[in-house]
Amino acid sequence: MIPPRHFALIPAAGVGARMGADHPKQYLPLAGKAMLLHALETFALHPLVEHSFVVVSAEDGYIDDVLGAQTHLQDKVTVLRHGGQTRHASVLNGLRVIGNQLTDSDWVLVHDAARPGLTGELIDRLVHTLEDDAIGGLLALPIVDTLKRSDAQSRVQETVSRENLWAAQTPQMFRYGLLKHALESATHVTDEASAIEALGHHPKLVEGSPRNFKVTLPHDVALAELHLKGNS
Ligand code: C5P
Repeated sequence: MIPPRHFALIPAAGVGARMGADHPKQYLPLAGKAMLLHALETFALHPLVEHSFVVVSAEDGYIDDVLGAQTHLQDKVTVLRHGGQTRHASVLNGLRVIGNQLTDSDWVLVHDAARPGLTGELIDRLVHTLEDDAIGGLLALPIVDTLKRSDAQSRVQETVSRENLWAAQTPQMFRYGLLKHALESATHVTDEASAIEALGHHPKLVEGSPRNFKVTLPHDVALAELHLKGNS
């Protein structure tokens, strides 16, 4: 039997409305290059990753310029202009388009373009922890803060126990066949793991890193640059 291979799929078709910038957040300059390029390069240059796919919107006017100068990535990255209305749709469209290149047992690592702090060590940890796993899993961080649930007026309604609570990150790594089936069956999911859970499975949580946070608000940019420049 051929051993399963590992592919990266990066949904990058969002508009990043919460960032309030004049172009999509995945293309904002960060420590000298477009945000998307950070994670994309980490995957493309990783020895365990066979190939990387980036899903952008059909009208994307940035990706060609961003990748044009990156000749060292040319054979390792394919752009799919099949973005959808939601992250869920963008990932599923991407999976459908690459179906003729993967087998059902190949692994797919789905990663947000807006998490530039991914490192090769984190990919190693995820891949090695899950290599014999029947289902797959995701990077995540145990919650350290005390959690409050509020009402619409920001008044505390209850304190939620943080015991056994984790914040999900990406990459989320599942077998191609199971992941595509799960996303085709799912409605209203914000990550791949939720779709797998809806089928009754229990994805494995693998400890991620604070530097792998999702850049969402304008002040996140400075923090991301600190991590990237300091390489911590
Ligand atoms: O907006 P948010 O930060 O949750 O998006 C997470 C990831 O999903 C980003 O990389 C974004 O570009 C991507 N996305 C997408 N298609 C959409 C919405 C978001 O590929 N329609």
